[in-house]
Amino acid sequence: MSFATKLMAWYQANGRDLPWRNTKDPYVIWLSEIILQQTRVEQGLPYFNRFLAAYPDVVAFAEAEEADILRLWQGLGYYSRARNMHKAAKTVVAAFDGRFPVRYDEVIKLSGVGEYTAAAIASFSSNEAKAVVDGNVYRVLSRYFGIDVPINSSGGKKVFATLAQEMLAVEQAAVYNQAIMDFGAMQCKPKGALCETCIFRLECVAYRDAQVTTLPVKLKG
Ligand code: ADE
Repeated sequence: MSFATKLMAWYQANGRDLPWRNTKDPYVIWLSEIILQQTRVEQGLPYFNRFLAAYPDVVAFAEAEEADILRLWQGLGYYSRARNMHKAAKTVVAAFDGRFPVRYDEVIKLSGVGEYTAAAIASFSSNEAKAVVDGNVYRVLSRYFGIDVPINSSGGKKVFATLAQEMLAVEQAAVYNQAIMDFGAMQCKPKGALCETCIFRLECVAYRDAQVTTLPVKLKG
């Protein structure tokens, strides 16, 4: 069985039921992913619910007063995220007639949307075959393949972006991307990885070589 197939089977059995996973609405996915950029799931959840209640669609978000958005954002920090969201929402209204785009090449142009967020929106909303690359993905792939190239070097970023795209189940990009994030968050954890119960125990290079605690490598700076 392939890496992707095993990973998705694990996810079917163990994945978290999170509210933004029950939708294909790119606006709702965007909202969740921006909130979660520098915020833990448990902390972000109540904010996600409050924002969605206040602004059920992107037009409502675009028409909101920025002061109201910033007030709802209070406690999350990185207020540029909220300001970029307002700008992006206005762009969606002006350039896309209020229909939130789902294609990677379109969403990546929106304020505050980088490669990770664009891949998340495109894959979750339209199953576009774009692999997400976040901290979870760096950790899982660096350990599975035993790659010690620093994840924050320009070479490392390229290596992992290419590898992540190769590992993706292209026909099931949405499920695969959710699966690798949960696997990194719940099983292949930064500290206290659960190797003894891991489905990849017999093939993980880092486990074989006792390098789980040393990978991924990140340069200080
Ligand atoms: N963190 C960022 N995006 C996430 C997602 N879609 N599911 C769980 N955790 C996340």
